[in-house]
Amino acid sequence: MLDWSEPSTSAKPTPATIFNTAPTSSAEQTGLGEIDRTGGRVSVDEKRMINCRADVNQLLPLKYKWAWEKYLSGCNNHWMPTEVSMQADIALWKSRDGLTDDERRAIKRNLGFFAASESLVANNIVLAIYRHLTNPECRQYLLRQAFEEAVHTHTFQYIVESLGLDEGELFNMYREVPSITDKAAWALKHTKNLDDPDFKTGTLEADQAFLRDLVAFYVVFEGMWFYTGFAQILSLGRRNKMVGIAEQYQYILRDESIHLNFGIDVINQIKLENPHLWTKAFQDEVRGMISEAAGLEAAYGRDTMPRGFLGLNAALCEQYMHFIANRRCAQIGLAPVFAETENPFPWMSEAMDLKKEKNFFETRVIEYQNGGALSWD
Ligand SMILES: [Fe+2]
Ligand SMILES: [Fe+2]
Repeated sequence: MLDWSEPSTSAKPTPATIFNTAPTSSAEQTGLGEIDRTGGRVSVDEKRMINCRADVNQLLPLKYKWAWEKYLSGCNNHWMPTEVSMQADIALWKSRDGLTDDERRAIKRNLGFFAASESLVANNIVLAIYRHLTNPECRQYLLRQAFEEAVHTHTFQYIVESLGLDEGELFNMYREVPSITDKAAWALKHTKNLDDPDFKTGTLEADQAFLRDLVAFYVVFEGMWFYTGFAQILSLGRRNKMVGIAEQYQYILRDESIHLNFGIDVINQIKLENPHLWTKAFQDEVRGMISEAAGLEAAYGRDTMPRGFLGLNAALCEQYMHFIANRRCAQIGLAPVFAETENPFPWMSEAMDLKKEKNFFETRVIEYQNGGALSWD
């Protein structure tokens, strides 16, 4: 059984390579500069994660096979939210006593958190990370991830439309509900440097700022906060409530587990290639970020589930967050930030073990347009 909550780190040490430490130009980093007509072909040893001087437009030869494999896995997991039936959810949402007020509040806040978060994550990938990750196979994965984030945002549009929710209320929760705003603001604070048009990697300070962004978005946003959000909805799904949304969340979770894996591999590979960035002080700072982020999630849990329902409450979500936070620390080589704790939601691994063929393709109603069906007029 696959346990997607525990990505394996596939970044491997590379043979000792003497990297050219001269600063890269902006054109070298983006790949949009003038073409070097006299330059040689790229060799694997010249490729590196950040500050690469080799041509970023040459995908092959591949150096980081883990990035390419994640791209292929992402493509194999393709899905669209509109393929999931919302009939049962619509009936339950419109029924007078199918859901308690507490459940409705938790569902709406959960949807509100995810609705804007998918856009924040997508914007960070496209407008901040992509430019500075100077490796074509990683960029290939980022392009796939960006599309998947668009599919996830589409999911929330589809849910709003299906259930007849107030779109303004849902998509503005990240601005209007303080416990959600606090999380979004925390993440945005860590991408602020990269948002500066003059930002360039190549110095200790800038390269650490880049790592900080990767930790904030991949480890915390997608790797911690999304997981408690999944647990809330999947817990309802297990009790036969909002089963359409729960199925969509399972597909999102499957995608996000690869996003998280990718982010962890990227961080670990950058560490291997640039050990001088991973100072004791920086490690302490990252552990502080993870601990602070868990605190924000606990506050959000109390706000979202003030009384708890059906086996789920804020205290259990906080315990789960501590469990996940310690796992994320281990995955990037840090000591745990919380006392060892049991996973209060062991069923999450089961929920993640999605049998795509069984409950997805057999029920799919839409066929993708293939080559034979394209019209060229
Ligand atoms: Fe997403
Ligand atoms: Fe994601």
